[in-house]
Amino acid sequence: MDPVEINAGAWYLRAPRADDRIDDRPAVVASFADPEIRRWRRRPSPGVEEADAYIRRRAQDWVRDERYAWSVCDPATGEMLGEVELAELDLAMGVAVATSWALPAARGRGMITTVLSAVLRFGFGGLGLHRVGCAWADGNAASARVAEKCGFTVEGRIRSSWVDGCGERYDVIIAGRLATDR
Ligand SMILES: CC(C)(COP(=O)(O)OP(=O)(O)OC[C@H]1O[C@@H](n2cnc3c(N)ncnc32)[C@H](O)[C@@H]1OP(=O)(O)O)[C@@H](O)C(=O)NCCC(=O)NCCS
Repeated sequence: MDPVEINAGAWYLRAPRADDRIDDRPAVVASFADPEIRRWRRRPSPGVEEADAYIRRRAQDWVRDERYAWSVCDPATGEMLGEVELAELDLAMGVAVATSWALPAARGRGMITTVLSAVLRFGFGGLGLHRVGCAWADGNAASARVAEKCGFTVEGRIRSSWVDGCGERYDVIIAGRLATDR
């Protein structure tokens, strides 16, 4: 599918870009370097080549319908503030997994709750998905709260399956939201 843009109120969602008009690479490099994102997500080392590859992979995944990734942008400046994805997409099966991150300066303003809610509306209403899952390490309180506010139901716990950057091991909580959930 060609990338779809979503207007999510105070934020604007578009496919990640690195071209002569819009360059998300500095924001992506900043996300690779952020300790909190590195703690809870697998990230490459922070470099421009790695950011280039990251953005190119997401462009390919849109074409292959394998992952729909959006840069979360300030509508006035176009600056990338975070990312939200429908990953592990299987349109035939009607399933995907939601993931997200926000740069430190953009956190705690309701951004990811708002844009993930908009992406879920697109996923269920526009794509006809039946289930969107999500998962977080037990200890990632912000992710747990976002999932709760976005209507996910906790479904289980995978014991000792995440090791953070300091070598500490965590259970992973899995949750899901169905098109038929109220
Ligand atoms: C998780 C993350 C994407 C949330 O983005 P955000 O835009 O700040 O989220 P929101 O502002 O929409 O909501 C955050 C909620 O978590 C709460 N929260 C944040 N830090 C918290 C903490 N340490 N303990 C408890 N609650 C916390 C906020 O108070 C808010 O809830 P509220 O609206 O009830 O007050 C962001 O913190 C992030 O990028 N973290 C690092 C990467 C990551 O963990 N990604 C997800 C991996 S599963």
